[in-house]
Amino acid sequence: MSSSQAEVDIIRTTLRYHQEETTHLEPQVLHNPVTNYADAERLAQEQEVLFRQFPIIVGHVEQVEQPGQFFTHDETGTPILVTRTREGEVKAFVNVCRHRGARIVTDTSGTTSTFSCPYHSWTYDLQGRLRGMRQPFGFDDLDKDQHGLVELPAFERFGLIWVRPSASPMPISIDAWLAPLEEQLAAIDLSAHTVFKAWSVDLNMGWRIALEGFQESYHFCSAHKHTACSAYLDNRSVFVDLYPHVRHAVPLAQVPELVDQPEQDWDYRGNYMDQNYVFPCNFVQVMTDHVYIHTVIPTGPGTCVFKCMMLVPKGRMDEKAQRYWQANYDVVRTVFGEDFQIGEGIQRGLGTGVNQFFTIGKYETGIQLAERAIDDALTGRLVCPEVVSVV
Ligand code: FES
Ligand SMILES: [Fe+2]
Repeated sequence: MSSSQAEVDIIRTTLRYHQEETTHLEPQVLHNPVTNYADAERLAQEQEVLFRQFPIIVGHVEQVEQPGQFFTHDETGTPILVTRTREGEVKAFVNVCRHRGARIVTDTSGTTSTFSCPYHSWTYDLQGRLRGMRQPFGFDDLDKDQHGLVELPAFERFGLIWVRPSASPMPISIDAWLAPLEEQLAAIDLSAHTVFKAWSVDLNMGWRIALEGFQESYHFCSAHKHTACSAYLDNRSVFVDLYPHVRHAVPLAQVPELVDQPEQDWDYRGNYMDQNYVFPCNFVQVMTDHVYIHTVIPTGPGTCVFKCMMLVPKGRMDEKAQRYWQANYDVVRTVFGEDFQIGEGIQRGLGTGVNQFFTIGKYETGIQLAERAIDDALTGRLVCPEVVSVV
């Protein structure tokens, strides 16, 4: 598989780090106040800004392949209903009835031609328009056009479904937002993948603690000593600042051997794991032959949910393929479990007051870059591009 110029540059950088026995270094050590992890007021602000103004990955296109196929997503605190219309457009709605607020769709996924509220059977079509009411004479001449489902900005990009969990009238341009990642996301062609597994884990740790587990590789050879460590070069990640996103390229152990190959033969994908951070809470983790999409969403002070999809290339899912992907899944669950155990320990220690700051090293770069972008968003310096998207 050929590599992009950006990837050739990453490989060159890795070879240089290896030769010089160094790694990526930010200019400064960051002293991050622990209040950024544990403050209830800050969390409320994060939920209001980060989880309302920016697009979150809620699913894979396969979940709404056909018109009328739908799924729900609740973790952001906004109950979201995603479907595909007869015209082929992906739409998201707040999953709340316009009569007296009942949850309309209670199944997590399925296929339908209309959405009917379980409380009094007000019925909406796939465009979210109010179509039918039982015994409408009790509502005088209620204007149905004013009582359609409330729509949320939803986008189908790079094989994934992105939703901004707020109906605010502020326009949003998904293409401008994802532009820094476009080349890379287009190349992995996630629409040609299928969801092998999807799972959620409720975690007893603040969401920022969970996030940071994917933003450096300094911990691999201690936290994952018996699992991931040997597969990768120790703490030699290359970070590409794609503000506000980050490409975090983790070289596999054999990358130094590429020094003997001509650059045009370099195969990036077969030699790296990318833990791409997509602001504010999404990761596109690209393995050599499959991909994990994860999102980390706060559910309260000191708790969050980790949602993950394992995407594998579409193809014959015979017994052998099934066993192969299952083995990969088992490994990743073990490795993530190691991170989560550490993270929950950090959460338990937060209240001791031992640390006023967490000390983020110069090579714990993904954390430094994300901290800067999150801070920018919370202080109004970073906003989602306000350009109407051409869908
Ligand atoms: S609340 Fe939905 S029909 Fe009454
Ligand atoms: Fe880890």
